[in-house]
Amino acid sequence: MIVKAIAGDIASIEAGAIIVNLFEGMEHLDGDVARLDNILDGAISQLISQGEIRGKLNEVTTIHSLGKLAAARVVVVGLGNKQELSLDRVRGAVAETCRQLQPKKVDTMATIAQGAGIADISLEKAAQAVTEGAILGVYSFRKHMTREAESGEIKELTIVEADEAKLPNLEQGCHKGRVLAEATNLARDMVNEPANFMTPSHMAEMAAKLAETHQLELSVLEREQMLELGMGGLLGVAQGSRQPPKFIVLRYKGRDSDEVGLALVGKGITFDSGGISIKPSEKMEEMKGDMAGGASVMAAITAIAQLKPRINVAAIVPATENLPSGDALKPGDVVTAMNGKTIEIISTDAEGRLILADALAYAGKLGAKSVVDVATLTGAMRVALGDIYSGAFGNSQQLMDRVIAAGAEAGELIWQMPMHEGYKEQVKSDVADIKNVGGKFAGAVTAAQFLVEFVGDAPWVHLDIAGTSLSEKDQNYRIKGATGVPVRTLVNLALSLAEER
Ligand code: BES
Ligand code: MN
Ligand code: ZN
Repeated sequence: MIVKAIAGDIASIEAGAIIVNLFEGMEHLDGDVARLDNILDGAISQLISQGEIRGKLNEVTTIHSLGKLAAARVVVVGLGNKQELSLDRVRGAVAETCRQLQPKKVDTMATIAQGAGIADISLEKAAQAVTEGAILGVYSFRKHMTREAESGEIKELTIVEADEAKLPNLEQGCHKGRVLAEATNLARDMVNEPANFMTPSHMAEMAAKLAETHQLELSVLEREQMLELGMGGLLGVAQGSRQPPKFIVLRYKGRDSDEVGLALVGKGITFDSGGISIKPSEKMEEMKGDMAGGASVMAAITAIAQLKPRINVAAIVPATENLPSGDALKPGDVVTAMNGKTIEIISTDAEGRLILADALAYAGKLGAKSVVDVATLTGAMRVALGDIYSGAFGNSQQLMDRVIAAGAEAGELIWQMPMHEGYKEQVKSDVADIKNVGGKFAGAVTAAQFLVEFVGDAPWVHLDIAGTSLSEKDQNYRIKGATGVPVRTLVNLALSLAEER
């Protein structure tokens, strides 16, 4: 979908539909809605007085203009209670509206920067939210469908602003929204892609394409180099698979130094069968999405490259399958990670932390000033927080606060979880420095407690997205399947860290 900003009068726009909004409990119409109501001979106010339009959040009402306007329809979307308006509600309402109009074969739409001027929302932020809502809301993954879509496709959304002087603000918000939403959809595509397509090699090929498009530096380490670096965690997980592992590093340079301001590390298990500690078959197909962390950091760095903050960023993705075979890692085996620590394998299904151990050590070796890792790491995280909040663990409250704030701005909710020395007891091994499973209780916490052993001194936050990476239904701007969480958070974080320096 193309989203563009123009200066003009919304009432005279030619489009399949004009979208305007209404708050719940508003007594009388004003502004653009009042003008449109007039042109439509009071159709909107009549529907309000008849109780059909109430302004309830995400309530969508279509009124046909029957030649009274250049646009074929006026669509009124409810934004709920005015006091409770947020950017996320704007994103959601726009997404719901677009999704309801698509089956009606509406292919062009126009709207205003919904929410601008209300509750501290700037024109720029409003335009950004409208853009994000539209592009995220009409997302679908049809790559492997041979039959054509029944529903139409909205090709263009124009955001209209009456005051020409404000057009640059509108355009800026629109641009940022487009970059963020398209990066999110890129991550969604990667996660939705079946594992027979999205292999470690394919991830590396994608990284090469992205590097070329966005002028990123790329290096892909192969088995030999992993051996040289002592990446026993990644090599151990990969040894059961026929697909060669890849260690992907994409780098963005926003300033003239070699310092890495932010390292984004993403778990890239392209399929997690559990290995020898094999998973039950029910819902195992979801494990094609076990590279969601890796997809999110790859997508985020493409958005960062387009928004050009003054900070150097590295995206690091250890990528492999986790499969059982005669060569596979076994429970009881011991491997040595890149930082020299030895790990006793209790379950080969706790593979994410093994590959992250090496990737975190690698980020430490790059001298990264801040490190954020993203992983579909534990079923326990999903049990604890479901699909609403991602869990966050860390060693620096300052970085934690920034990550949470970056998430809040994106509408990607993040809840801080505890770290405590006391949990270390659970990952103590009788034969190695540490073991990869901490027992039945506090599974998400002991996983984080495992990871911190490989982090070094840099401020670090670990995001466990096992619950939030997939959605079971279409809801607001989330579409059933991959959510693309936390791409927009990571981009916001890079922008905010760049501001500070
Ligand atoms: N990829 C899984 C975690 C997961 C589960 C992600 C459900 C998304 C949905 C991870 O590799 C895993 O298998 N974790 C184990 C760890 C356990 C063996 C300590 C788990 O959570 O069961
Ligand atoms: Mn696993
Ligand atoms: Zn996994």
